[in-house]
Amino acid sequence: MILSQLNFIKECKKYSISLWQCPTFLFVLMGFIIILSILLSYFIASKYISDPLVTALLTLSIAFVLMILGYSIVNGFEKLAEANRLKTEFVNIVAHQLRTPLSAIRWSVGFLLGGKAAHLNSQQYEQIELIQSNVKRLIRLVDDLLDVSRVEQGRIVLKKEKIDLGKLAKEMIEQYSSYARASDISLKLKAEKKLPLISADSEKIKIVLQNLIDNAIRYSKKNGKVQIKLSKENDYIKCEVKDNGVGIPKNEQKYIFRKFFRSSNILRRQTRGTGLGLFITKAFINLHNGRIGFKSEENKGSVFWFELPIAPH
Ligand SMILES: Nc1ncnc2c1ncn2[C@@H]1O[C@H](COP(=O)(O)OP(=O)(O)OP(=O)(O)O)[C@@H](O)[C@H]1O
Ligand SMILES: [Mg+2]
Repeated sequence: MILSQLNFIKECKKYSISLWQCPTFLFVLMGFIIILSILLSYFIASKYISDPLVTALLTLSIAFVLMILGYSIVNGFEKLAEANRLKTEFVNIVAHQLRTPLSAIRWSVGFLLGGKAAHLNSQQYEQIELIQSNVKRLIRLVDDLLDVSRVEQGRIVLKKEKIDLGKLAKEMIEQYSSYARASDISLKLKAEKKLPLISADSEKIKIVLQNLIDNAIRYSKKNGKVQIKLSKENDYIKCEVKDNGVGIPKNEQKYIFRKFFRSSNILRRQTRGTGLGLFITKAFINLHNGRIGFKSEENKGSVFWFELPIAPH
């Protein structure tokens, strides 16, 4: 019993769903409550009521009431879970349908901006560049929605291989260097020498690094500093992404890995974003049996970190 309970706790953690969304957990919990109540009512009745028939009747009626209560609660949660499943499926279908035409638009816009577009005047070129950047944003949103629905349906399959996290972090820093420069932010990597390899899905870890670096730059002030630090901590490789940006208000920190959450200080600045990046990041790290966390102080900055197990030799 305890083993199976631990199993569904692990499953909930893995797919980033709360325990209350897990029907097995609710079923086991209701079972415990019913057994405890029957034992308690039997104990009270046998101590304070002398007639055994009254004791039996009392215990039976309490058991009956609890059974009906349990059934309605489990039934209610099952309906909620079903509605949630249908919503996830709907999002998945819509996102899939949007992905194909958006990719086609990106391809055509890229073609127009490429070598064949010598006849475009500067104004036309600017407008098409604007279309390109908006299409990229839409594609990112659709990809995030697809990742969220895959996480919620437990459909993520990891393609694990031995990877060098230092090399991957370097690649990501190069990718973000022009964005950081344009925002007047310095972006640096500090890595311990000869770090052991990790066993991970490089595409998923790239997304993790992209989300953390993107946040650190986006939520920094002008002339800010972003530093990525890699180190070995026992059997794990630890990656810290530190910024001296706007930080997260203390009373909102408990919501930070929730889907669609954006802190009030960020909403005031009205920068774009959907609040899905960290939800996906946490789910990917959990799927790798890793750990993730953060420390933040408003107006001082944040450090987001994750740890991934070192690959066996
Ligand atoms: N480095 C950071 N500094 C300050 N606030 C942060 C930082 N990282 C995350 N946050 C807060 O956490 C919220 C959620 O981050 P998350 O990356 O999930 O979504 P987002 O950046 O708003 O949108 P997107 O899905 O496009 O990444 C942010 O809106 C912001 O309020
Ligand atoms: Mg983000």
